[in-house]
Amino acid sequence: MVLVAVALAAAAIVSDDPPSLAHSEAKGVIKERMDLMQGLKDTVKAVTPMFKGKAPYEKAKVKAAGKHIHAHAGADMTELFPKDSLQHPSDALPKIWDDWPDFTSRAKDLKSLGKDLARTAGKSAPEGVTLSPEVAKLLPATATFKKIVKTCTSCHETYRKPW
Ligand code: HEC
Repeated sequence: MVLVAVALAAAAIVSDDPPSLAHSEAKGVIKERMDLMQGLKDTVKAVTPMFKGKAPYEKAKVKAAGKHIHAHAGADMTELFPKDSLQHPSDALPKIWDDWPDFTSRAKDLKSLGKDLARTAGKSAPEGVTLSPEVAKLLPATATFKKIVKTCTSCHETYRKPW
């Protein structure tokens, strides 16, 4: 059940593409944060099949994903949201600056979860084996990955225009 939820949430993230090509017009800090977010999406997408039992589990890849997430969250993410930066084609909501402490604390949570993923990537995990969903859900890294995906989606639900 847990894994099904992870798979569904991850699928939602992976299909998280902008509705039109408008985003190619983004400039400055809006473009920088869209690029950062797209990089996170690619990272999540690269490891999702391992947690779904659809690709061999590779510790180094999971560890690298954790490090990437760690490096692009926290202040590295929130500094790309200067006050009232809502220029076209941004999908950010003004609520970000009304609830700035909550917004930044979510970005910080993501940063520490990235570190947890890097740390737990190799724990109890066999290298190069495609895990069954039953086994995959027992891995410490799976629990962390699930939290990461939840952190992405819940921040989007709160602070980004629905697509
Ligand atoms: C602290 C809140 C927050 C967290 C955490 C967060 N995001 Fe975002 N994300 C946003 C906001 C706000 C936008 C809209 C930015 C804009 O359009 O200006 C966004 C936009 C995006 C986009 C669309 C980018 C584009 O080209 O328009 C993708 C993809 C994305 N996020 C993926 C992720 C992934 C994957 C994670 C987790 C690993 C994540 N985000 C974590 C707030 C967050």
